[in-house]
Amino acid sequence: MANIIIRPEWYIPENRVTPEKSYFNRRSFLKQMGFAGSGALTMKSLDGFGATKARRKLFPAKRNGNFSPPWRLTDETWATHYNNFYEFSTQKTAVVGLVGDFKIDPWQIKIHGLCDKPLTIDARDLAEKIGLEERVYRFRCVEAWSMVVPWTGFPLNKVLRMVKPKAEAKFVKFITAMKPAEMPGINYLRGYPWPYTEGLRLDEAMNDLALVTTGMYGKPLPKQNGAPIRMIVPWKYGYKSIKSIVEIELVSKQPSTLWETLSAEEYPFESNVEPRVPHPRWSQATERVVDTDDRIRTLEYNGYGEQVARLYKK
Ligand code: MTE
Repeated sequence: MANIIIRPEWYIPENRVTPEKSYFNRRSFLKQMGFAGSGALTMKSLDGFGATKARRKLFPAKRNGNFSPPWRLTDETWATHYNNFYEFSTQKTAVVGLVGDFKIDPWQIKIHGLCDKPLTIDARDLAEKIGLEERVYRFRCVEAWSMVVPWTGFPLNKVLRMVKPKAEAKFVKFITAMKPAEMPGINYLRGYPWPYTEGLRLDEAMNDLALVTTGMYGKPLPKQNGAPIRMIVPWKYGYKSIKSIVEIELVSKQPSTLWETLSAEEYPFESNVEPRVPHPRWSQATERVVDTDDRIRTLEYNGYGEQVARLYKK
């Protein structure tokens, strides 16, 4: 491991991000992709989970009034075509074109470990069992770009209560599917400690904001955004929001995560959005709004301090 030079795309210092803009001109990108306007998505990119049957039944889910702020939503085409999903590619705009062979239905998810009622269930059945709601959240990547997205899902605490954590359970570990035949990036990034793994403290996982997510913009999640089921943890940097989950495990010790294993100094376990704490190689004080290119101030806990700051009182 020590001899392998492993650099995520966001390892590039911010002052070198400019060239991306020259090849990734916003208007011509949309034109090339064949989108006349926002929201004009193809069926191919919408084959989230459960296809049309699930969509009729589960989508669109009712918006939760407590999570319906008057913010401008990020353009849907941007949110679904500018992706970090290293199992497919390190190039954000390439991911969507590489997910074709990724099979997401049926999809078993195993919820187990230190709990009294472990469960293995199809992702769609879990969504039907718990029910879906829509919430508008800010989303802030460690690379200092951001979006505002209407996600569809249910609080993780509802799943955890179902399996009844034992007293020894202190952390929740999440694991992404590892299917090299369907995920070309895994073969390319051989030095990475696959599968992609993430984790939360149990009290963070029980916080109402931590959302198990199965859809966005009123439709099932597109594959490139982590279908059929992912996490959205809006007060933490985006890499904590693990995609295409196959396992949720209750554990007693802090689990090692993919990014922390690669560089604990740059991508530590906790990873709360904290504008006053710079990343070792760039400032986290501001963020770039992906679809407008505006630069705005980053908020502590990504604006969710009221809901989560108490978790971190020393
Ligand atoms: N989950 C997996 N399995 N693989 C990944 O590469 N990237 C993370 C996170 N979850 C990633 C992942 C990062 S760095 C970000 S910013 C978000 O997914 C991006 O989510 P999006 O493509 O839906 O915007």
